[in-house]
Parts: sequence; structure tokens; C-alpha cells
Amino acid sequence: MQVVKEYVQRWYESGLNPDEYICHQKNRNLVEIEEAATGKRRTVLTFCTNDILGMVQEQAVKQAAIDAILRYGTSNSSCSVLSGRIDLHRELEAEISAFKHLPYTQLFINAWMAMQALMDAFCHLAIPVPGFHHTRETLILSDVLNHGCIISAIANAGTRSGKLFGYSPRVRVRAYRHCDVEDLARKLRRFVRAGDRIMVISDAVFSMDGDIAPLPDMIEVMQPYDGSVLVMDEAHASGALGATGRGIYEHFGILPQQAIEKGIVPLIMTTFSKFAASAGAAISSHVAELIPLLNVSPTSIGTISLSPPQAAAALESIRQLRQRPELVKTLQENTKYLRARLLEQGFTIIGETNVIPVILPPELNPKIFARQLMEQHGIWVSPIWFIAKPRLRITVNALHTKEEMDCLIAAMVSTRDVLYKSTISA
Ligand SMILES: Cc1ncc(COP(=O)(O)O)c(C=O)c1O
Repeated sequence: MQVVKEYVQRWYESGLNPDEYICHQKNRNLVEIEEAATGKRRTVLTFCTNDILGMVQEQAVKQAAIDAILRYGTSNSSCSVLSGRIDLHRELEAEISAFKHLPYTQLFINAWMAMQALMDAFCHLAIPVPGFHHTRETLILSDVLNHGCIISAIANAGTRSGKLFGYSPRVRVRAYRHCDVEDLARKLRRFVRAGDRIMVISDAVFSMDGDIAPLPDMIEVMQPYDGSVLVMDEAHASGALGATGRGIYEHFGILPQQAIEKGIVPLIMTTFSKFAASAGAAISSHVAELIPLLNVSPTSIGTISLSPPQAAAALESIRQLRQRPELVKTLQENTKYLRARLLEQGFTIIGETNVIPVILPPELNPKIFARQLMEQHGIWVSPIWFIAKPRLRITVNALHTKEEMDCLIAAMVSTRDVLYKSTISA
């Protein structure tokens, strides 16, 4: 551990460690937090939560979670293959299938497990079956800016053949340039070999850049490759994109069925940690046979199934959303308003969704900027200087009021003025 100790000491000395906060209470977007290093408490206005529709504090959602605990207890205490599912799992799967227009859905405890299970199931067919010889290699094409859960799963997929899955043929992984459909087409032409099973995989909304994958163009480019699989990670798209929050297909005015008619197999991963007041993930497909494979993949058997309160909170959130699509409209209007106000004040922002990355001039350190926003103005945004290029990451939600967004703008402008002066005179 000596290396770890020295490394972490150096890390703290260099100021590259993230500040830590502990939440004590929430009321809409006002949060009482404690700074872990000093114990200091303050109430701040948050612009860094992923609770995009405000479902976390919705009474019906809280009650559904409580009722589930009273009925089933707090945990299922095992995985579904070994100890069965609860009825809530089945209801949630059906609800997601209807919401995403794909009839078969499998649940997981989070996106990382879902992605790993998908790779184990699709590339390696999960478990050996006597008399079936799996001979076809898989080619995976992945956007370079895909989320870590995808990167990790495809890296594992590429190294698991011949090891964990001794009988399984190779998985070849190639990256294409961010949202660059021409590059995707080029890489398909260059890397596809006869007999390959092809998977193209992308965030629907990119979690650090806040932009949207060019889905219709991706479908066009994939069309010549009959049977190729298109995976959309809708972690930030569910509840945020489309008139009723169904995600990227609705955003572009199409249905997964249209991809199917072009010979493409659409898979959608939904997660519950953003729009659905919970944790957990789901993979939906029109191919019934994928589901038992996802269920028996080592990732599914080796871990716990979604707990009753988590399943209930997600289920009730989706039901609420289906009854109240105006929440999505408010989120989209807030996004438009805040983005326009930031631009008007001369900030450089990228993307087009409720994830709003603000790129600061290189002389302004995002961590110092965010700290100043919190200490001087009581506003909480996420500074990013690890995992992606330096930026402030603002997330706006359906509960933010115009006054709160104006407060953020005034604080951003004032902080920029103060920091510019101090960095230029320094
Ligand atoms: C694109 C994307 N995929 C997956 C995840 C992870 O989801 P989960 O909370 O289920 O682990 C995130 C979370 O930030 C994300 O942005």
C-alpha cells in the first residue's frame, strides 16, 4: 500500500482531488449539504443533480417505494435465476417495454452490469450448450466518447474470448470518431469481415458533452449490414428527449420498428438513476431469445436483482411520467432558457440537452470556479477536470424556476469577473 499512500498524498497536495459533500436534506432544488473536509453546513441551490423530472421527491414515488418495502422487505437477497423475480420486476419490465416500443425487457442493478451482461450474452452466448458450436466473430464499433460502462464492457468483451469464455470466438473492438457517421461508415467498410456479427454502440445523449447521437444517419449507414445490432444507451435520453420523454427515437420522430424494417436490430438500455428516481437499468429488444441469455449471463447470476423499493420507485416514476408529459416540456423549456441565457452572457457551451457543459477559458480552473460559486453565491455545479476535458457541468431540471436559473447566471457572471481579475493581475 505504500505506493497508494504516496500517490494519494501527492494527489491531495496537487489539489486534483474532488471536493466531497454530504447531503442532509432536500427540498426541490435546495439542498442542505456538509463539506466533508471542514464539517461546514450550508443550504445551496443545486444545478448538479440528475433528477431531471423531480421524481425523487414526488409523493407517489416515495409511497410506492415504502409500500414495496412493506410487502417484500428491503432486498430480494439473491439473483433472479436462482431465487426468482418479484412481481414488481415483471411489471417494471412490461412498463419499460411499452414506453420504449420494444416488447422484451430485462432488468439489472445498474448500467455497468447491464452492459457487461449484454456483451456476455451477445458476443459469448453466456453459457456453453452441448452440440452448439459458436464460430462467428463479433465486431463492435463504439463512439470514442461513449460512457465508461460501455468502454469497460467492450474492453472486457474483447479480452474474455478464450479465457472466461474458453469456447467463444474473438471479439474485435474499434472506435469511430465522436458522432461522425462518415467515420462509422468508413470503419464498417474497413473492418467488417465475412461472417462477422456487427454491433454499433453509442450513448444516446453524451453524459459529458450533452449532445445527441445522430440516430437516423446511423441507421442509414448500417442498413447494408443486415442483422447488425444498434445499441443506444438512453441513460440521459429517457425522460429528457422526445415530446413524452421516450428517448432518442421519439426525438427524431421514428420508432424502433423502422430500424427493424431496415434489417437492423435495435437494443435500448434505459437507466433509472436519472429520470426514474431510482437506480437500475434495463435492456429492451424485439428479440425474445436475447432475454434468457441476459438472465443467465455471469453478470446477472453473480449479483443481486433490483431491490423492491428501487423497482417500485422506477415503476411509479415511469407511470407518473406517462400521466404528466408536461414535465418533459418544462424540462425542455428550462434547457432552452438556460442555454440561451448562458450564450447571451458570452459563455461557451456545447451540446443541446439539459446536460450543459460550460467550457471555461484555460486560465480559469473549473474547481476554483465551482468552489467560488458555492461559497459566494450558494450555487452548486459540478466542476470536471478528470474523466473529460475541463469544464463546468450544469444540469438543469424540470423543477428549476426562472428566478433560480437567473440566480445561476448572475453568480456565473460575477464569479467570472472576479476570477478573471485575480488571474490576470496574478
Ligand atoms: C450514458 C450513461 N450511461 C450509463 C450511465 C450509468 O448509469 P447507472 O447510474 O445505471 O450506473 C450513465 C451515468 O452517468 C451515463 O451517463
